[in-house]
Amino acid sequence: MKFFIDTGNLAQIKEANDLGILDGVTTNPTLMAKEGIKGEEAIAQHYKAICEMVDGDISAEVLSTDFATIVEEGKKLAAIHPNIVVKVPMIKDGVKAIKWFTDNGIRTNCTLIFSAGQAILAAKAGASYVSPFIGRIDDSGWDGMELIGQLRHIFDVQNYKTEILAASIRNALHIIKAAELGADVCTCPLSSILGLLKHPLTDIGLAQFLEDAKKM
Ligand code: G3P
Repeated sequence: MKFFIDTGNLAQIKEANDLGILDGVTTNPTLMAKEGIKGEEAIAQHYKAICEMVDGDISAEVLSTDFATIVEEGKKLAAIHPNIVVKVPMIKDGVKAIKWFTDNGIRTNCTLIFSAGQAILAAKAGASYVSPFIGRIDDSGWDGMELIGQLRHIFDVQNYKTEILAASIRNALHIIKAAELGADVCTCPLSSILGLLKHPLTDIGLAQFLEDAKKM
């Protein structure tokens, strides 16, 4: 399973990248706004900085919702760097735009996926990735991981090449479950990635080793 970090924060991206386990970055308008990135030029510069830092796919989300503008915006985003993947919302014009991008050699990540039907449509249109929002499904009282399992089964049976990108990850258990169920990618906040490191027995064991090392 590939690891992406889900943030627009350059310091956090650097920290995850320095671990040597990072395969890419996903952003969304909320995450970009959080970093105070405003205006077309600043947005492009920020994506460029991320692409120069991380050698992997970088999802950059369109801000429009009609076919013609999504295509224009996506073309500009894709021109920033060859690793840019245009993130498109799961709406009717979005599906149409994903098909256009596919036919024109631009890779896409279909975002805001909450059902198998939506994922099938995105895959049929040729999306490179679909992003089911695990945490938000859990928040509404459903089991987000069930969707990952269902998509894995459907994509295997149908031989879809689209990668399943588990998004809206909230904790280390989400990452472990996504790996177990065969997600191709997991995009996580830095806190969830670092959460994988933790085990109290590791801390106790290391403290003991360091204590005994003094006797050596
Ligand atoms: O980037 C999309 C997704 O990962 C957002 O997560 O935590 O806002 O539901 P969250």
